[in-house]
Amino acid sequence: MLFSLSGILAGALVSITGVSAMPQQASPAAASSASTSVVSSPASTSSSSSSNSSSSSQVCNNSPVLCDRHYSDITHMGAHDSAFLRDDSTGNSIAGNQFLNATLALDAGLRLLQAQVHHENGTLRLCHTSCGLLDAGPLDSWLARIAEWVAGHPSDVVTILLVNSDNADASQFAAAYQQAGLAKFGYVPPSAATTTTTQEWPSLRSMIANNTRVVSFITNIDASSASPYLLPEFDYVFETPFTVLSLDGFNCTVDRPSDAGTAANAFSQGFMGLVNHFKDEEITAGINIPDTDNIALVNSAGTSDAGNLGQHIQQCNDQWNHRPTFVLVDFWDKGDTVKAADDSNGISQASGRTNASADSSASDSSSADGTNQTREFGTGALIAFLAATLLMI
Ligand SMILES: *[C@@H]1O[C@H](CO)[C@@H](O)[C@H](O)[C@H]1NC(C)=O
Ligand SMILES: *[C@@H]1O[C@H](CO)[C@@H](O)[C@H](O)[C@H]1NC(C)=O
Ligand SMILES: *[C@@H]1O[C@H](CO)[C@@H](O)[C@H](O)[C@H]1NC(C)=O
Ligand SMILES: *[C@@H]1O[C@H](CO)[C@@H](O)[C@H](O)[C@H]1NC(C)=O
Ligand SMILES: *[C@@H]1O[C@H](CO)[C@@H](O)[C@H](O)[C@H]1NC(C)=O
Ligand SMILES: *[C@@H]1O[C@H](CO)[C@@H](O)[C@H](O)[C@H]1NC(C)=O
Ligand SMILES: *[C@@H]1O[C@H](CO)[C@@H](O)[C@H](O)[C@H]1NC(C)=O
Repeated sequence: MLFSLSGILAGALVSITGVSAMPQQASPAAASSASTSVVSSPASTSSSSSSNSSSSSQVCNNSPVLCDRHYSDITHMGAHDSAFLRDDSTGNSIAGNQFLNATLALDAGLRLLQAQVHHENGTLRLCHTSCGLLDAGPLDSWLARIAEWVAGHPSDVVTILLVNSDNADASQFAAAYQQAGLAKFGYVPPSAATTTTTQEWPSLRSMIANNTRVVSFITNIDASSASPYLLPEFDYVFETPFTVLSLDGFNCTVDRPSDAGTAANAFSQGFMGLVNHFKDEEITAGINIPDTDNIALVNSAGTSDAGNLGQHIQQCNDQWNHRPTFVLVDFWDKGDTVKAADDSNGISQASGRTNASADSSASDSSSADGTNQTREFGTGALIAFLAATLLMI
């Protein structure tokens, strides 16, 4: 039984290595000619967000248009499982949801980072489903890298969303935030109340002025006056469903929290909407992994094809009569995820972003010839993977 099971798994993995090899989208020519470039069209107009913040020159989250908009009325594009990489650092683990790390995501213009936290041997670690499967290290070291970026980008507001898989206490998250130097940037809502009304979310300009530029949502914690910047996610945010296996499976129904009612209900209570837009594929009965085969279509800002990111955002905007506040995608550097957020926000020009597609095509190129399809995926990890059945989001 065990033997045949491992036989099945070995077979499955053999097919995975073929299937999950990243389809190369950029031509080698594009990859070699493009070095890291800044997206802003007038290249000389400051990517350095200077302290000269007369209101006409200020740029907030890459655009002057966003400065006076409420935080809740902006679409923040986000990297789902942003710490779980499918790259050399993980032996190209099929449990990875991103090719490029969270710093590069922020550089490119994403403003929401989601990850999963486990309580392992007394510390909080970023692990995907289990630390035996994919361990991205201690939470505080990852947060420190985010804090470094935040400190260097004084005109940007960043949101962090952590899935608290082992129900760790808020005080443990607070310790990691302190250690990382991120706590001081934490935005604290005006009242101790849980759900605020939409109007109560401040403008980016005022969050930037106060230097409280990091909004942190965590699942399964109780709010604590000792760390009032750690916000219980489902007091503020509702999410659409997340285990989507078909291109026409995306919708805008409220999935969590289960007692939020309809989207209209949730909005009337002041919730913000989060659109989960990532597709899994089933590699063998009951085992799902992030789908890279359809990634260009799934992450397209287009609105014409079932499964398009642009279409899903537009659909939720139409159904909700509210712009989605948050969107989560896998493999954010594929397709045009930042453009999809710009379209939602009504922005045609942005400044201060780094175009990461050149970097990613360069780093993918080692496997472009298909000769290095090694997947370092240990037996223990396989069993954990199988036991978990579904990769936890
Ligand atoms: C901001 O910069 C502009 C152009 O460099 C300059 O004319 C203006 O005086 C500056 N404003 C402040 C408040 O420093
Ligand atoms: C193939 O990938 C493995 C794991 O990432 C790496 O250690 C090795 O150096 C790679 N080999 C080549 C030829 O790129
Ligand atoms: C992402 O990778 C760069 C380059 O290796 C590194 O400097 C940065 O700290 C990394 N960021 C995170 C969040 O791991
Ligand atoms: C936690 O402790 C167990 C038992 O000693 C060990 O097997 C495991 O590798 C440890 N986990 C980490 C992340 O160090
Ligand atoms: C900024 O700080 C002031 C003074 O503490 C406070 O009254 C105001 O609500 C803060 N605004 C934001 C957006 O945090
Ligand atoms: C939205 O998708 C979820 C998950 O697939 C499904 O349970 C729900 O019925 C769908 N809602 C609608 C309105 O189709
Ligand atoms: C990023 O660079 C690629 C090729 O170098 C280009 O096709 C793409 O349009 C650029 N993206 C943005 C947002 O400028």
